[in-house]
Amino acid sequence: MTDGGRVRRPWVVGVSGASGTPYAASVLRALLDAGHDVDLVVSRAARLTVLDETGHAFRDAHWREDLTRWLARGADGTPDAFDPDVGRVRHWSPGDLAAGPSSGSYPARGMLIVPASTACVAGVALGLSKDLLQRAASVTLKERRPLVVAVRETPLNGPTLRHLVGLDEAGAVVCPVSPAFYGGAVTAQDLVDFVAGRVLDAVGVKHSLYRRWGGELGGGARNVNTTPPVP
Ligand SMILES: Cc1cc2nc3c(=O)[nH]c(=O)nc-3n(C[C@H](O)[C@H](O)[C@H](O)COP(=O)(O)O)c2cc1C
Repeated sequence: MTDGGRVRRPWVVGVSGASGTPYAASVLRALLDAGHDVDLVVSRAARLTVLDETGHAFRDAHWREDLTRWLARGADGTPDAFDPDVGRVRHWSPGDLAAGPSSGSYPARGMLIVPASTACVAGVALGLSKDLLQRAASVTLKERRPLVVAVRETPLNGPTLRHLVGLDEAGAVVCPVSPAFYGGAVTAQDLVDFVAGRVLDAVGVKHSLYRRWGGELGGGARNVNTTPPVP
């Protein structure tokens, strides 16, 4: 729990089995760039989406090298678009219900579920705690810590909509992975980073992932890559 006398106060990042592993990669890179500690839980189903969307496995026994390769990949598929340092990441297996984030006394800051499947939304809304990811989310809610749920599905059916209302009423921030174009996005990475930036905005983490609205129309026609980062 301590790191050279320093108390670790990590953000728990849960990656569930919805499409959108580049969103998770962008959030993770930005948290690490901002100097935050991260506790990572990748669900069993998310192993399928990581494999499908990156071409590489995510394995508990090799999580550090698999995560580094995943975070180095750009949203357009470039394998070495980033140079991540995963030294501040602690990995927990999704079946490990004795893991730190399964208890409210573990000093987590809060939790970001990116992306969140509809199954995950249902499980958290109903308090199923079927795995560590869902248990950590339930703990986050009961401890009144910030929980962001970046749901990814379209269209949404009635049960999912009701579960999302339930999560909102329980104090979570429902943050659909819904990219915007007003920041001048021109690449897939720009769109991914906009969503990741809005997730981080919800918990007050500083980043320079997208250009904020400045009150003047026309910004969307300017290339986001030609403007300075958000301070
Ligand atoms: C390649 C692939 C893509 C998927 N994409 C989505 C998705 O975008 N949204 C969603 O709700 N479920 C999606 N699923 C289904 C979930 O993985 C499935 O509901 C699973 O039970 C979720 O489990 P988890 O919430 O424990 O990760 C996808 C499954 C696969 C294999």
